[in-house]
Amino acid sequence: MRTAIFSLLAAAAFAQTPRPGVNYDESKAGGGSLPDLKLTTAEVWTNKRRTEILKLFEDHVFGKTPANIGKAKFEVTATKPDALGGIATRKFIHISLPDRPAWPGMDVMLYTPNDVKRAPCFAGLSFGGNHAVSKETDIPLSTRWMRESKEKHIVDHKATGATRGTESSRWPLEMILKRGFAVATAYYGDIEPDHADGWKDGLRAAVSKDGANTVWKDGDWGAIGAWAWGLSRIADYLQTDGRVDGGHLAVIGHSRLGKTSLWTGAQDQRFGIVISNNSGEGGAALMRRDFGETTAIITRSFPHWFTPKYANYAGNAAASPIDHHMLIALAAPRPIYIASAAEDHWADPKGEFLSGKSASPVYTLFGKKGVVADEQPATDTPVGDFIGYHVRTGKHDVTDYDWTQYLNFAARHWNR
Ligand code: GCU
Repeated sequence: MRTAIFSLLAAAAFAQTPRPGVNYDESKAGGGSLPDLKLTTAEVWTNKRRTEILKLFEDHVFGKTPANIGKAKFEVTATKPDALGGIATRKFIHISLPDRPAWPGMDVMLYTPNDVKRAPCFAGLSFGGNHAVSKETDIPLSTRWMRESKEKHIVDHKATGATRGTESSRWPLEMILKRGFAVATAYYGDIEPDHADGWKDGLRAAVSKDGANTVWKDGDWGAIGAWAWGLSRIADYLQTDGRVDGGHLAVIGHSRLGKTSLWTGAQDQRFGIVISNNSGEGGAALMRRDFGETTAIITRSFPHWFTPKYANYAGNAAASPIDHHMLIALAAPRPIYIASAAEDHWADPKGEFLSGKSASPVYTLFGKKGVVADEQPATDTPVGDFIGYHVRTGKHDVTDYDWTQYLNFAARHWNR
């Protein structure tokens, strides 16, 4: 009994301790000297250097997406022409792999504005499922694995009806649709549940010859790679939907799904705009800064997100042949937006800005301007031309302020 009480008290004390040993001191941040982008001409970038950097990210960070996964099948399972009070058409599309029946498939929810013939579209994954993204109550409740949370009404890893709309503030659907854009989203857990053994019930085991007995080697893909693959299948579908302008697709993601959005945009150039919302370590933040979350922390807490080799750089970022400005550079010459939040020190807002700034010279090769600003701008002051950047007031989240900047950015680049 005494021991039980003691460990309860100890656990409470630990929970209140702000992540010990994490550097939040700017004077101790690193990152001064980054791997060289080795820029010569736009042509050499497109035909050679870009491919070399992509391979570095496969070998050292996210792993390689297998080439032999097979063709996906798309089935429109429901259409509602008067969604969201009549402003949109809502469709569900089931994506499966007929040759890989062990993968249960994913359900995409697509909203297209009713007053636009073919709308440019934002595509992104959610943390809570389609029923959490939208407040519409006729959306099927996800039956898949969920991260357990009492506050979020997830019991025994299953969503309850009380989770409806819980992610809706991060997906201001009306606002997006009224600006003439479509939105396509799916639950990341449909592709692969997000925990150490999640891959065994997800895409990676289903497409691996050793299934759930696979031993992951350096260069093999992790969960972020699997989620990114899912976003590319959403793009495949969107390019066949008559209500979507398949030539104008943007990929968006928050936090771990922001890392995923960057990796998706790096591999799949059909996404003409790439958006990283508070993606932090492993995403837009520079690993050499060692500010907030570090390579050591992330590869210890979430090894399943990456290829095993990424952990070699724990406590030794200087040995890595990449830093994350190179991940931003992989978007070039397409427009890319990096957003930070002022109180999100864990994600290192300044490191996110500096990777945009350090990637900017690649845009110069194409006669374009990147982030433009030399210093991180003041809060709530968006900057940048082909690399957009802002640091918003507040916490780690996606808000209407963030979306307003993304919509303005897309409207500017796509002449809407
Ligand atoms: C953790 C993790 C981050 C990640 C975040 C999220 O905080 O350390 O790297 O971005 O979760 O996805 O919400």
